[in-house]
Amino acid sequence: MIDNDLFEPYERLVTIEILGRPVEVPENNRLLRCFQFISMRSISYGDFCWNGDCTNCQFWYTEEGEHGRDDKTALSCRFKVREAMVITRLSEHVKLEGINKERDEGGGMRDEQEVAQES
Ligand code: FES
Repeated sequence: MIDNDLFEPYERLVTIEILGRPVEVPENNRLLRCFQFISMRSISYGDFCWNGDCTNCQFWYTEEGEHGRDDKTALSCRFKVREAMVITRLSEHVKLEGINKERDEGGGMRDEQEVAQES
């Protein structure tokens, strides 16, 4: 369950695109919170300062009507989400379940060694 105390108040979700996938995230929130909304575990336990110091949350993006121009970059902990923005690249520290990381269904990822020991 998502702890809504984490998020700035919002009335609706907006659609953005991340690495080619459309996703819905809460309006009026910093992008790193939006990443947390779609990938609670990996972002909550990720290596992020949340205050603009570490740069681990960096991303690259374009906005509507800007295709073909150079991507801009920003820090997702400082950047408020904009409807229809297109995120083209993420810092290696930003792992989003179902997008650039396998979806974690419940009890956590089991590594190959763990699985091998059971057989
Ligand atoms: S989380 Fe550290 S700069 Fe954004």
